[in-house]
Amino acid sequence: MNRKYRKTVIAGNWKMNKLPSEVKPFADELKTLVPKQKWCDVVICAPFVDLPAAVKAFRDAKVGVGAENLNENEKGAFTGEVSANMLTDLGVKYVIIGHSERRQYYGETDFSVNAKVHTALEAGLNPIVCVGESLEQREKGITLELIALQVKTALSGVSADKMRRVIIAYEPIWAIGTGKTATAEQANEVCSAIRGVIRDIYGARVARSVTIQYGGSMNEKNAAELLAQPDIDGGLIGGASLVPEKFAAIINAANQD
Ligand code: 13P
Repeated sequence: MNRKYRKTVIAGNWKMNKLPSEVKPFADELKTLVPKQKWCDVVICAPFVDLPAAVKAFRDAKVGVGAENLNENEKGAFTGEVSANMLTDLGVKYVIIGHSERRQYYGETDFSVNAKVHTALEAGLNPIVCVGESLEQREKGITLELIALQVKTALSGVSADKMRRVIIAYEPIWAIGTGKTATAEQANEVCSAIRGVIRDIYGARVARSVTIQYGGSMNEKNAAELLAQPDIDGGLIGGASLVPEKFAAIINAANQD
């Protein structure tokens, strides 16, 4: 973390978990466990159908609510899809774009990610853009080149001004849901390389202010060590964000003075 230059953001990604009726009990518990977050922003990204309940439940708690995906088109004949304006109309502030599960199971590419980033920014949403390598790619030694390409393509055509609203999440695919966390050094190496790519495109000032999260089996035990790294400005948390005590412990790790 480097609180002097950029925000620390702890975001939960509920994936396809939690019923709408489970949102308020979760929120009530989290609010009791974390009465105020001093140093970091907190976000809960939830399934579409949970979003109205989440916006309502977190309104008084300064917890931002995010979606897990959106369609890149403004509106029209796209059966089953959800637009950016539908999200903002509900009071949603963030959206995860290009999560590896969407790339893997739903055919999303760096180019569709780029289109969605533009749509989200146009609508006033804050995109959380996910990048990450597979185990095979890491073992072949191409992690940094691959991540650089993902970042450059995802941000293609995004202005320096709009970059203020973009969060990047580095999520190595081999660490997601596996209990295998990247070491703090491995995670920081890639987050620092991402900052370098942003510096090349936008200059030092934008690079210094962009929030870069780590995600992949981040939990209440390893959060403090990961967050102590200079280029890791928060987390995108799957499994541990489903349990109020665990998610609160991660927020508290980011809140330390
Ligand atoms: P886990 O924390 O369950 O590994 O998931 C990480 C993730 O994919 C967050 O987007």
